[in-house]
Amino acid sequence: MRTITELLDILNPGDAVLLRCDLNVPLQHGSITDTNRIESSLATIQALQKAGARTVLMTHLGRPDGTDPQLTTSVVARSLQGFLQSSVIHVDEMPPGPRVQSQLADLPASGILMLDNLRFDRGEESNDPILAAALAAGCRYFVNDAFGCCHRTHASVAAVTRFLPSFAGFLLTREIEVLSELRDQPERPFWIIAGGSKVRDKIGILAHLSGQLDGVVCGGGLANTLLEGAGVPVGLSRTEPEALAEITQHLEQGPEMLLPIDFIAGDDLNDPTRTQNIVAGQEPDSGMMLLDIGPKSVELFCRRLESARTIFWNGPLGVFETEQFSAGTKAIARMLGNHPGKVVIGGGDSAAAARLFGVADSVLHVSTGGGAALQFLEGSTLPGIAALIKNSEGDVR
Ligand code: 3PG
Repeated sequence: MRTITELLDILNPGDAVLLRCDLNVPLQHGSITDTNRIESSLATIQALQKAGARTVLMTHLGRPDGTDPQLTTSVVARSLQGFLQSSVIHVDEMPPGPRVQSQLADLPASGILMLDNLRFDRGEESNDPILAAALAAGCRYFVNDAFGCCHRTHASVAAVTRFLPSFAGFLLTREIEVLSELRDQPERPFWIIAGGSKVRDKIGILAHLSGQLDGVVCGGGLANTLLEGAGVPVGLSRTEPEALAEITQHLEQGPEMLLPIDFIAGDDLNDPTRTQNIVAGQEPDSGMMLLDIGPKSVELFCRRLESARTIFWNGPLGVFETEQFSAGTKAIARMLGNHPGKVVIGGGDSAAAARLFGVADSVLHVSTGGGAALQFLEGSTLPGIAALIKNSEGDVR
């Protein structure tokens, strides 16, 4: 796979570069609530600008069903413009046609043109070569820096590589480097902290990594499902009993498994009127769910993880967005921020927690990919990365 470093060696000022980023930022009432994905993409955008490229920037935003004015990328263009302190021209034409071509023709060296939401054209998700050709029109090179989208066989990450010499951007290169080490040769002891609500999502990763894993700290839905399976009362907590047999099979293959020994229970995820600190085995009061790990579990987990050399954190330990259930995730995040080992955080919610609790800059890496990071660690060759490899081997079919 060729990287942007190689492209910068051959790029001439004024060359048009089609750049795919994952600027799929969270929106609330039309405003961006977290600019992390924009900031993580700046290195590549600025390197192209500095080299005098004319950049055609593209991203999807949300999951629109056809054109949806609420999901136009103009809000992203405005935010990016603020970070770059230079103009970003937004063209609301998807698929790109004469208006994009005319703006591109007028674009000066180092200029940036931003396309509208790729998913306004249904060809994006069906990997349509007609859309891919329209995206590539007028450009000389393609750079993929959208790690978070590389698990999708979409036109802007896959089919587009049939039309242009293609390169991986800085963010994508870094993600591959860090996650490959974690997947293929982690420094041991290697532990995973597996929280969050989706239990099924953890199966692939535990299956693939179990041979080199030394331990799994279980929280969230995974802990609740395992505890319920062992006959421990979990009240009204969400569990996935249908995933239990498969999960147990992978965990029984070797890694040490740590479960919480106490909890904060509550009667509502967002706005609890009652909370309760209980130990494992104690029946929660009626109507209660286990919504955070308790202080004794925090102490146990922190002590046990002290000797780890590599830690991958996927999924919060509680409903950290709600003050009453945030202490467990906050304490674990802070511990990870001070941990001397290699700490990698993956998945949208754990990454958001790392930023909220101020530790994102203190760990080795916070992945920008949710599903993409998990699939990568499961051992899958992501379609977006496979397409770049094929392109560099001269096979662009
Ligand atoms: C993400 O948010 O994980 C990526 O931008 C991919 O988005 P998608 O899950 O809608 O394909």
